[in-house]
Amino acid sequence: MIEQILEAGRAAPTACNLDIVRFIVIRDPEKAKMVWSDIPTPMDRCVLIVVCYDKRIYETVGHNRLVLHNQLLDVAAATDHICLMAHALGLGAVWLTRTDKTAKKFRKSYGLQDYIEPVCHIAVGWPAIWPIKSRRMPLKEMMIP
Ligand SMILES: Cc1cc2nc3c(=O)[nH]c(=O)nc-3n(C[C@H](O)[C@H](O)[C@H](O)COP(=O)(O)O)c2cc1C
Repeated sequence: MIEQILEAGRAAPTACNLDIVRFIVIRDPEKAKMVWSDIPTPMDRCVLIVVCYDKRIYETVGHNRLVLHNQLLDVAAATDHICLMAHALGLGAVWLTRTDKTAKKFRKSYGLQDYIEPVCHIAVGWPAIWPIKSRRMPLKEMMIP
């Protein structure tokens, strides 16, 4: 199932099809503590997926001087695809907020290369309960005239 979920992330679009997105899968609950959210979230029995990008690609093609933010958008698109596939398979998945401090700690404990930027943490698992769906702002209010 994790592979299917990651395939959905792989299918997500990337700007100029530059394939900058990378994944780290953490199954060991002890190791998962490295990427625990800065907001307390019970996820001791989850698989954690860290969605990263490889900085070298934009540096090579010069996009880092033009559209740096596209790197984050690529990661966000993959993250959302991952969450949707997890949901389609009957699993729960949630984006987890992390601070720069957590990213730094994770980089050090995982021994991550300096050109890999970890951006999004996703917890995936069997939900103990199905949460009530959050309400969304009405479409009318989202529209900017
Ligand atoms: C960038 C981002 C960061 C988020 N961080 C957290 C988090 O740290 N902890 C958490 O429980 N949910 C987090 N979420 C999930 C949202 O709060 C919310 O659960 C999600 O949008 C789906 O809500 P729904 O299923 O009720 O529609 C995050 C979502 C996004 C897009």
